[in-house]
Amino acid sequence: MKIGIGNDHAAVEMKNEVTEYLKEKGIEVVNYGTDTSESCNYPEYGEKVGRAVAAGEVDLGILICGTGVGISLVANKVKGIRAVVCSEPYSAKLSREHNNTNILAFGARVVGIEMAKMIIDEWLAAEFMGGRHQTRVDMIMAIEDK
Ligand code: RB5
Repeated sequence: MKIGIGNDHAAVEMKNEVTEYLKEKGIEVVNYGTDTSESCNYPEYGEKVGRAVAAGEVDLGILICGTGVGISLVANKVKGIRAVVCSEPYSAKLSREHNNTNILAFGARVVGIEMAKMIIDEWLAAEFMGGRHQTRVDMIMAIEDK
């Protein structure tokens, strides 16, 4: 499993802690984010990770900014991306089971590292259920071609 991770200046410390956590779980992590606290623009990093996931360079993506909102909005502009912003594990789990999300976003100013770990664990452990949910995901993705 290879995960691409991206972040802006609001989430450098959180990115480092999450990266360490993922590596402890045996997951390969590719860093697409900034590594300094100097103010930067989250669209740059949301797009990088979105494109890496869409191109299959990495299996999944994790994006972190102050709220997770801006960076997830950016990723969802990339064709093939279904990014979810979560501040609790239930939505993260269901976003995989029902919506087949391929990028998880959260806010470094919203959740603490222990909640972030729980969100990540539920997201990674869940599997897409297919069936009626495949129909709905297909409908979402068809909008990209209209
Ligand atoms: C940066 O101040 C902040 O706007 C950004 O991290 C994010 O929260 C945007 O959605």
